[in-house]
Amino acid sequence: MARVSYRVRPETAVLTRGFDPELSVGSARPPVYRSSTFVFPSPEAAERAFAVALGKVRPESGYRPDLIYARLNHPNAEILEDQLVPLERGAKAAAVFNSGMAAIFTVLISFLERDGTMIYTQPLYGGTQHLIHQIIEPLGFRAIAVRAGDMTALTETIAHTDNLSLVLIETPSNPTLTMTDIGQAAAALRANSRRAMLAIDNTLLGPTFQHPLSHGADLVIYSATKFLGGFSDLLAGAVIAADPDLIQSLTGIRALLGNILQADECWILDSRLSTVALRMNRQSKNAQRIAEQLAKHPRVRRVLYPSLFEDHGQIRIRDAQTDYPGSLMSLDIEGGKTAAFEFLRRLRIAKNAVSMGGVETLACHPATTTHSELSAEEMAAAGITDSLVRISIGTEHWRDLLEEFTRALDGL
Ligand SMILES: Cc1ncc(COP(=O)(O)O)c(C=O)c1O
Repeated sequence: MARVSYRVRPETAVLTRGFDPELSVGSARPPVYRSSTFVFPSPEAAERAFAVALGKVRPESGYRPDLIYARLNHPNAEILEDQLVPLERGAKAAAVFNSGMAAIFTVLISFLERDGTMIYTQPLYGGTQHLIHQIIEPLGFRAIAVRAGDMTALTETIAHTDNLSLVLIETPSNPTLTMTDIGQAAAALRANSRRAMLAIDNTLLGPTFQHPLSHGADLVIYSATKFLGGFSDLLAGAVIAADPDLIQSLTGIRALLGNILQADECWILDSRLSTVALRMNRQSKNAQRIAEQLAKHPRVRRVLYPSLFEDHGQIRIRDAQTDYPGSLMSLDIEGGKTAAFEFLRRLRIAKNAVSMGGVETLACHPATTTHSELSAEEMAAAGITDSLVRISIGTEHWRDLLEEFTRALDGL
């Protein structure tokens, strides 16, 4: 089969890049290469592959080093990484990990310099915040929290922080859907003499509705467990960048940590990429219809959802930075934790489970589950209350979901 050598659009690239059937007995789909180790054509090739992998020599352009050992790299990771690149506007390279947390940890441990400081927006996914407190801070790094969306505080903190190595922004934030301006954060970092890394957790809206590299981010991080995977049946993470050297630094650390995504998971995830935009578009349309209706229900104080923003700053960021509102929303329900739990108990189509981004609708109570590691002060600062229920809308018919949520609210 002749390979597609000319430029094509992302929807086409994701189905034509990264895999050459001629290398796999004409198989139309990539096989799963489960080998842990790879045979070298000669001892010289082995020597060269190790020299390149260890950074002792820089490969000339076009040189594809021989594979060595699956902890460093393997064919299914290479195929998946090649196919992730066209989905992220402005990207040139990607690295895959065995979970979103593995991707985040590898970014932090790779780019935080000795005595370095990181700034992060709050709220973050509870696990990420826990990782910062349980591992990153005890290792001696400083971590400063800034309220998500507070651009004055973020710009000033960037300007006045010594030894700043990295800024981690989750936008929109999980579970409050607060947006932080990526372009403004990138400009604040550029104005600083010492260039720190800007990493964006793009799990909630990417890769379809938000493109951080176009706004000046260095690294885009995903829990690929969510929308990229799309069916709540695998764990995966990815980091994507415009600068291949940044990805090479990460894959060097990944080889030491052993947290590369395994071949079977790469193969499954790779088969999901061509439908990510289809699924996300449908899920976002469903969610927008449902959110706008639920906002009128007398038992709902507020629906946290991008198309319902009232704050001018948030509206400005939304319009400048995102294409569609996505499928995650949080309901602030009248009646506190008791009402929130009762609402969850009444759901039948939607399942009471953590996670998001799958084709099935999931709902949970962040204060007692995904964000329960946060201290009371962090919870208050993040705006996560007992009356908040987070919902990830799937691909079911939106009317069935709306009827179910309305019934559950009516009965409270
Ligand atoms: C925004 C965000 N980032 C990262 C993660 C961690 O991803 P994983 O569960 O794949 O490790 C999650 C998980 O819920 C998340 O919501």
